[in-house]
Amino acid sequence: MKLHDQYFVTLSLLGILPLTYSKSVIEPCTSSDSCTSFLSYRLPFGSKLPEIAYRFQINISDILASNSLDHDLTQPSFWNQILFPRNSILKLPISCPCTNGIRQSLLTHYAVQPADSVASIADSYGGLVSADQIMAVNGVNASNPLATGESLVIPLPCACFNNSNYGAATVYMSYVVQAGESLSSLAKVYGTTVSNLESVNGLGEPHVHPGDILAIPLPACSSANLNWHNESLIVPNGSQVLTANNCIKCKCGPTILNLQCSASGLLASCSRLQCKGSNLFIGDVQQTHTVHGCNVSTCVYRGHFGRKIFSSLVNSTQVQCTGKYRSHPANPYLTLCPASAPSQSPYSAYNGPMGSIGTNNNPASREVAFKSGTNRKLLGEISCSCLVLLEITIIFVLFFYT
Ligand SMILES: *[C@@H]1O[C@H](CO)[C@@H](O)[C@H](O)[C@H]1NC(C)=O
Ligand SMILES: *[C@@H]1O[C@H](CO)[C@@H](O)[C@H](O)[C@H]1NC(C)=O
Ligand SMILES: *[C@@H]1O[C@H](CO)[C@@H](O)[C@H](O)[C@H]1NC(C)=O
Ligand SMILES: *[C@@H]1O[C@H](CO)[C@@H](O)[C@H](O)[C@H]1NC(C)=O
Ligand SMILES: *[C@@H]1O[C@H](CO)[C@@H](O)[C@H](O)[C@H]1NC(C)=O
Ligand SMILES: *[C@@H]1O[C@H](CO)[C@@H](O)[C@H](O)[C@H]1NC(C)=O
Ligand SMILES: *[C@@H]1O[C@H](CO)[C@@H](O)[C@H](O)[C@H]1NC(C)=O
Repeated sequence: MKLHDQYFVTLSLLGILPLTYSKSVIEPCTSSDSCTSFLSYRLPFGSKLPEIAYRFQINISDILASNSLDHDLTQPSFWNQILFPRNSILKLPISCPCTNGIRQSLLTHYAVQPADSVASIADSYGGLVSADQIMAVNGVNASNPLATGESLVIPLPCACFNNSNYGAATVYMSYVVQAGESLSSLAKVYGTTVSNLESVNGLGEPHVHPGDILAIPLPACSSANLNWHNESLIVPNGSQVLTANNCIKCKCGPTILNLQCSASGLLASCSRLQCKGSNLFIGDVQQTHTVHGCNVSTCVYRGHFGRKIFSSLVNSTQVQCTGKYRSHPANPYLTLCPASAPSQSPYSAYNGPMGSIGTNNNPASREVAFKSGTNRKLLGEISCSCLVLLEITIIFVLFFYT
């Protein structure tokens, strides 16, 4: 059964725009809604973050979060130090609206510079848009050439497919096929199957060509089933998102597809990051030994309304405490759940559910938490016993709230 077949067809753009031979998915749509979609942007030349952010009109902090790059987001001096080399691949979040009956983003604009040609502009978008598409959308032709300073609309491919792939929460990422790549090599990289890629992209045959643009389904964490106040989030595995006016950071994966939210530490002016009647801040987990076993309290983010941030304390019990830590009232930034590994700094992150991701709210004393590979692996493994517990807790909470 090909679930997606009823929604869309793959059309060669040849039929729509002359001289374009690459294929891409066309997803028809009717509603005026939009979804979160990703672009896989392969840098055609070395670029710094501000250049990339400017080219796509995406906030730098959103680019960093989407790629789970934990740099000091408040320090523009940092951004300029990082030069992403040619052929680096960055995930870029874009809003995917319904325009003229199909899913397509027309929200990116480009201001023409003196030395530009349509081809050079198209090239700077790494194959996500062709020169012909830019010309067609902007009515550029021989009698209406580019003018310096002119603002061009850059059409970018995106897909929503109801943020679902066989019922699982999914974010779709537009990906430009490179020479030497095949559906099976891409399926391996993105943890999916050839038949799923075929079905999602409505391919009649299991072949792709360099320059084709595929919609790749990324498994995601969704807030759809969480009883959150006024908030809808969908975050692909391996990414993070900033929400609640950048006060909260939620991440997805890698071990469990549940949103794990904590204070972003970006702003000093965030209110109500502490759970009522406790020492715990959003994302903190506290274990307490009792005669009956181990009490686990988690301060859980529950959405926001304007500047108001909602959280609640969730309790559960388990037979044994998995970590040796107890919360220290003086330090609200400790992450407690599986922390049997020595913590190198009070802000070091762990990858378990609901864990804090460097939840220091004081910019003056913030340190950049560079995680070493071994440490991350270790912590990832340790967090496993906690996962079961928290899954149970989440089910309990859902029950409780509905
Ligand atoms: C970038 O951030 C600013 C302020 O934080 C916000 O107003 C704006 O909407 C953001 N832009 C995008 C494209 O998200
Ligand atoms: C060139 O584009 C202009 C404006 O989009 C249009 O009016 C004109 O007919 C086009 N000319 C040709 C030769 O296609
Ligand atoms: C979209 O997804 C929602 C929930 O995931 C579901 O209720 C709805 O029926 C889906 N819509 C379509 C057209 O599949
Ligand atoms: C969000 O919450 C506010 C206050 O509780 C309510 O008035 C508003 O209707 C809600 N908006 C949505 C979209 O649910
Ligand atoms: C999430 O990503 C990690 C690698 O970052 C991978 O090991 C894991 O299998 C992925 N989970 C799912 C459900 O795809
Ligand atoms: C353990 O948690 C339960 C609720 O789950 C609570 O009633 C009890 O007081 C807690 N015990 C301690 C010592 O915190
Ligand atoms: C959860 O446990 C804490 C102590 O660990 C307690 O103060 C709080 O009242 C408990 N909350 C609920 C809803 O049981």
